Amino acid sequence: MAALLDENPLVRTRATAEPGLWDRIFDESVRYYSPIGMITRQTTQSSVVDGFKIAANTEIGLVLAAGNRDDAVVPSPNVFNIDRPSRRQLGFGSGDHMCAGRWAAEESIGRIAVPSYTADSPHFALQTTASQKWAAGSSAATPIFRSCGVDMPIINFAYPDGSSTEIVCDSGRTLMRAALENSVPGIIGECGGQAMCATCHVYVTESDRHNLPAMSEDEEEMLESTESPRTLGSRLGCQIIMGGQLESLDVTVPPAYL
Ligand code: HEM
Ligand code: FES
Repeated sequence: MAALLDENPLVRTRATAEPGLWDRIFDESVRYYSPIGMITRQTTQSSVVDGFKIAANTEIGLVLAAGNRDDAVVPSPNVFNIDRPSRRQLGFGSGDHMCAGRWAAEESIGRIAVPSYTADSPHFALQTTASQKWAAGSSAATPIFRSCGVDMPIINFAYPDGSSTEIVCDSGRTLMRAALENSVPGIIGECGGQAMCATCHVYVTESDRHNLPAMSEDEEEMLESTESPRTLGSRLGCQIIMGGQLESLDVTVPPAYL
C-alpha cells in the first residue's frame, strides 16, 4: 500500500483531502499486490474446472494473485485504479476459510497505520534500489523504507554459468524476499514464503551451512520435491532469515528457474 502511494502521488493527495478513500485504496492495493499469492486446498471429490479434470484427494494451489489479475473479471487488471466500480478482490481468499483477520488488517493497516504516517510525513519516499515489478505473492514490489544505520546483511548469489551477484538487504529479511526485491534471477517465491512451493530453492555454500538454523519438518519435506536436484547444501530461501549471526551468506542458484 505504501509502495503504491509512492508510485501514485495523485492518489496520495486525493486521500489526504478525502479520507473516505482509504478503504478503496486498501482493497485495490490488496488486489493489485496479492500479499499472499497462493493458498492450498485438497479436493474431497473429483471435479472438472474449466474442462480440466481434477481427481479426488488432489492437493492443489489456488493462485489468488492470478485471480486478482483476471481480465475476465477485472478490466485492465494491471492498472492500479482506486475508482473501480467494484472493490471485489481475492487477496484474503474466499469461502469458509476466508482470512479471519481481514477486518483487523483493514482497520490496522488501511485505516490507521498508512493514513497516520501519510498525514505525519506527507513527503515520505521509498528506497527504490530494486526494479519494482509485480510478482505473484511476493514482495518484489515492496520497496524498503529509507533507513539509516541499520545492519545490512550481504548475500552473494552465484550462478551455474560462473557469474554472480551480490545484494545487501535489511536485517530480518528472508533470503527469498531479499532476492525478489533485488530481482535476482532464478528465485520465484511462488507461495509467498510458506515452504509450500520450493521455487526459492538454493544451494548454500559448505562453509556457511553451520551458520543456518536446523530445518523444520516442512522445509525438509518440501526439499524432497525440488525441480533441480537436492544436494547437501539445499535449503529453502524463504526459511533463511538474514541478520543477527547471519551477516553474510554465499549461495548458488539452481538452474530450474533460470
Ligand atoms: C493484509 C493482510 C492479510 C492478508 C492479505 C491475509 C490473507 C489471508 C489469506 C489469503 C488467507 C487464506 C484464506 C483461505 O485459505 O481461503 C488467510 C487466512 C487467515 N488469516 Fe489472514 N491475511 C491478512 C491479515 C490477517 C490478520 C491481521 C489476521 C489476524 C488478526 C489474520 C488471520 C487469519 C486467519 C486466522 C486465517 C485462517 C482462516 C481459516 O483457515 O479459516 N490474517 N489470510
Ligand atoms: S517461497 Fe515457496 S517454498 Fe519458499
